[in-house]
Amino acid sequence: MSAIIGTIVAAVWLMLPAYVTNSSAAFFGGKTPIDRGMYWGTSRLLGDGKTYEGLVKGIACGVLVGIVQNLFAWGYVDLPSFGSFPFFFVTLVCLSAGAMLGDLLGSFAKRRVGLKRGASLPLVDQLDFVVGAWLLLFLFARAWFRNAFSLEVIIAVVVITPMLHLLTNYIGFKMGKKQVPW
Ligand code: CTP
Ligand code: MG
Repeated sequence: MSAIIGTIVAAVWLMLPAYVTNSSAAFFGGKTPIDRGMYWGTSRLLGDGKTYEGLVKGIACGVLVGIVQNLFAWGYVDLPSFGSFPFFFVTLVCLSAGAMLGDLLGSFAKRRVGLKRGASLPLVDQLDFVVGAWLLLFLFARAWFRNAFSLEVIIAVVVITPMLHLLTNYIGFKMGKKQVPW
């Protein structure tokens, strides 16, 4: 396997719990807005696209997939692990909860500049959850984060995530799970 392919595989593997979190939140959706309809100024605090159900189901799916991944990583030396028991729970919760946190911050920022729910804000829409996941990893799992995410892997994530995000959102749109294809 060439080095570049190896880096891409590692990047997707390491970010998969965050990817799954984000897409499960969209897949399951929910009804109870986290901001409970609250406004800040003339715009909603977060908007109807951020719900408790999406948050909880998203994090649960992300952590579950990460646990399954870690079972594979122990068997195959080539795949990076999320850490040993019980530390990998910290890593996986940072990846999943961080993804949801970043997504909330992205929506918060969109509302502050007057963008309605579902309006597109390029790069923020595709990378807010990545930044959230990395922020929590940096705060609570720094040694693992530094070791797993080399500069090459970080670059691969930043390049690949927007493409994967657009692709999965398009699929979600076609499935009727998302109101807009981005
Ligand atoms: N979702 C949810 N709860 C969350 C996050 C996402 O229910 N905490 C669901 C919502 O149904 C949302 C969909 O996932 O519409 C897609 O998420 P996203 O694209 O981030 O939301 P948008 O609807 O585009 O809203 P925003 O403009 O706030 O990004
Ligand atoms: Mg978003």
